[in-house]
Amino acid sequence: MTLQAIKYENGTLEVLDQLLLPKESKYIPILGVEDGWKVINKMQVRGAPAIAIVGCLSLAVEISKEEFEKKKALRREVEGKLNYLISARPTAVNMKQAADHLISYINSLDNDESVSAQEMQARFVAAIEAMLEKDISDNRSIGEFGAKAILNNVTDGEQVRILTHCNTGSLATAYFGTALGVVRCLHSASRLENCYFTETRPYNQGARLTAYELVHDKIPSTLVCDSTVAYLMKTAQINAVVVGADRVAANGDTANKIGTYQIAVVAKHHEVPFYVAAPLTSIDFNVNTGDNIVIEERPQVEMTHINNIRIASPGVTCWNPAFDVTPARLITGIITEKGVFRPSELSTLQSQLQDHKNS
Ligand code: MRU
Repeated sequence: MTLQAIKYENGTLEVLDQLLLPKESKYIPILGVEDGWKVINKMQVRGAPAIAIVGCLSLAVEISKEEFEKKKALRREVEGKLNYLISARPTAVNMKQAADHLISYINSLDNDESVSAQEMQARFVAAIEAMLEKDISDNRSIGEFGAKAILNNVTDGEQVRILTHCNTGSLATAYFGTALGVVRCLHSASRLENCYFTETRPYNQGARLTAYELVHDKIPSTLVCDSTVAYLMKTAQINAVVVGADRVAANGDTANKIGTYQIAVVAKHHEVPFYVAAPLTSIDFNVNTGDNIVIEERPQVEMTHINNIRIASPGVTCWNPAFDVTPARLITGIITEKGVFRPSELSTLQSQLQDHKNS
C-alpha cells in the first residue's frame, strides 16, 4: 500500500509530514483544530482534497473529546472552527465546500427536536468520517472516467504517454488520487506506456511526492524539469496531459499548482488534449471566472532555500504565487466522479446537481 497522508481511527488522527518526504516518513499527531490549521498552513499536508479531509477530521478529533449539554453550543463551536480552518490556505475550495456542507448539516440537526445533543455530536462526527470513504470512491470513479476518455482518442490496444504536474495521488487525497488516479487506472489496464511528470518547483511535489508514489507502485515514469515540457511535447508524442485542480470556476477556468497554465498553453500549441481531474467539491459555482479566484502567495524562503540550504543569491527579491489559473478555452475536459465535462457543460451540470439536491 502507498504511504497514506492521513491515518484516522476512532477519534485519533495522524498526518504524514510531507515536508520531510522522501527522506523521512514521520507522522504528526493532530490533537485538534489548531494542529489541523498549522499542518495545512505549513504544507505538511497539502493537496486540495487532503486539506479538506484533514481540516474536518481535526474538528472531529476536537469535538469527540468534549461534552455538550446544549445543541446550540455545539453548533456555534463547529461553525467558528470550520470558518477558522478555511483561512489556513485560500485557493483550494474543498475545505470551504466541506465547511458549507457541514454547517448546513449541523443546522439541520440543531433544528430537529428529536435529536439530542449527544446524538447530534455523534452524527456530526460520523458525517466527517464518511468523507474519507467518499473521497476514495470518488477518486476511483475519476480514474476510470479519465482513463476511458483518454483511451477513446487512441487505437485499440495502443499504450499511452501521459504528462502530469504536481502531486495529485494518495498523498494529496484520502487515497488513490485524482489525476494520478487516472494514471493508476491506465497502468492497471496495461495501457500506460509512460507517465512523465514535472519536478514542480519550488516545493517539488513532483520530484519528491509523485516520484515516490510512482516508484512505489512500479508505474513506468520519467521525471522532467518544469522547463522541459515544451521540448517533451515536441519529441515524445504525449497523448494527454492530466492535472488536478484547487478550484474550478463556473466557466471552467481552473486554478491549480503554479506552472499548470504554461503546460496548457504548450499542450494547445502541440494539439495535445489537456484534462483537469477533480472531484465535484473542487468546482466553485459561486465564482464565475478564474479572475475571481484568490491566488495564495507563499514565503520567499520556499524559493531561495531547499532543505534549509540557500540556493539563491542573498538579497534577491522573489515572487512566489503557489497557483495559476488555466483559462477554460485551453481545457479539453474536466474529469469528475460523475463523468467528463467540457468547461462549457459545467452550467448544465450545476442545474442537474441542484435538481438532484431538491428532489
Ligand atoms: O500547494 P499544493 O501542494 O497543495 O497544491 C496541490 C495542487 O495544486 C494539486 O494539483 C491540487 O490540489 C489537486 S490534489 C488532488
